[in-house]
Amino acid sequence: MAQLFPRTADMWLRLALLLLSLGLVGVFVAFVVLSRSSYVTDQGWTIHQPVPFSHEHHAGALQIDCRYCHSNVENSPVAGLPPTHTCMSCHSQIWTGADMLEPVRQSLVQGEPLRWNRVSKLPDYVFFHHGVHVNAGVGCAECHGRVDRMPLMQKAEPFTMSWCLDCHQDPAPRLRPREAVTDMNWEYKGDRRELGEALMRRFHIGDGNLTHCYTCHR
Ligand code: HEC
Ligand code: HEC
Ligand code: HEC
Ligand code: HEC
Ligand code: HEC
Repeated sequence: MAQLFPRTADMWLRLALLLLSLGLVGVFVAFVVLSRSSYVTDQGWTIHQPVPFSHEHHAGALQIDCRYCHSNVENSPVAGLPPTHTCMSCHSQIWTGADMLEPVRQSLVQGEPLRWNRVSKLPDYVFFHHGVHVNAGVGCAECHGRVDRMPLMQKAEPFTMSWCLDCHQDPAPRLRPREAVTDMNWEYKGDRRELGEALMRRFHIGDGNLTHCYTCHR
């Protein structure tokens, strides 16, 4: 029987199909890698601020407690950013002439708050509450990392839904005594799961359904 196509046509077709499928796999892999990369989640990047405020200096070297500046963190959904007079409680006496602090002095004179750019921000359709976490013994460092080592604030964790759920499915090994929530150097010598489970029983932590959609989307 006469051949309609030369023998080699079959080979070319196979080769074309192979390249096409490799291409599709490549696109898929690139998509997965990109959607999880720090480029999409902003993790580990710093952003421009009106004043180059350093947590490393203030919370690290000077050991100022987080709650001195983020005073709503224990009883409100939002932690709150410090008003200008909180900065001026020290900077009306130290570093008074520094250029870097000019926007702070201007803000005080003009009665306009400093406009800090947000580093970690959830979409509006997600409900979050600082007070609930802090009172359950989830340390700031679990979600914001070693803030006391950050010259400029960075997002330490991805803040995606699966990241929230990872802890909500099994919070015990990530809990600590309430007194230690703002302590960046806190470490536990014993078994953290045992400690966490004891805390959960004592304070009835996680009695509600922490993985239910309504917990975070209401
Ligand atoms: C002297 C005041 C001061 C202290 C103390 C302080 N902060 Fe801050 N914090 C700020 C200011 C001002 C900003 C806004 C500028 C910036 O993002 O760096 C901020 C921003 C943040 C942000 C980023 C919020 C966002 O989404 O934009 C986090 C998280 C944070 N602080 C956590 C902490 C933790 C944890 C501690 C204690 C270890 C702490 N801070 C201690 C003043 C302070
Ligand atoms: C409890 C006192 C205190 C408070 C409150 C405070 N600072 Fe400072 N700040 C200092 C000291 C002390 C230094 C010098 C640190 C050094 O050089 O080691 C400093 C240094 C700075 C510097 C110079 C750069 C650096 O980090 O060394 C900037 C900018 C600054 N502070 C901004 C702020 C802002 C903005 C606020 C309010 C959100 C604030 N500070 C609140 C004590 C304070
Ligand atoms: C369970 C995780 C978690 C813990 C624990 C936590 N935070 Fe946050 N924090 C977040 C999330 C999520 C956001 C973004 C909230 C949003 O955009 O609605 C945020 C935002 C912030 C902000 C900026 C916006 C605001 O709420 O005013 C500051 C400041 C802050 N956190 C400080 C702290 C401090 C200080 C502690 C410890 C006392 C702490 N956080 C503990 C998850 C956490
Ligand atoms: C490191 C652990 C941890 C992470 C990360 C975490 N949570 Fe939680 N969350 C908890 C614990 C523990 C509780 C339970 C507190 C209780 O039962 O008293 C809780 C409770 C909550 C509640 C309150 C439920 C209620 O109705 O009382 C909300 C809302 C919530 N989390 C949202 C979030 C969101 C949104 C994220 C991610 C941005 C997140 N959480 C990340 C540990 C975590
Ligand atoms: C512990 C908190 C938490 C719980 C529980 C939760 N979500 Fe989410 N969800 C989030 C956060 C945080 C985001 C935003 C993620 C981001 O910005 O990347 C999100 C985003 C989403 C989105 C937007 C698309 C996306 O994936 O980014 C949908 C849809 C969604 N959630 C549906 C659900 C459903 C359905 C459930 C119940 C099975 C659920 N969520 C339970 C925290 C939660």
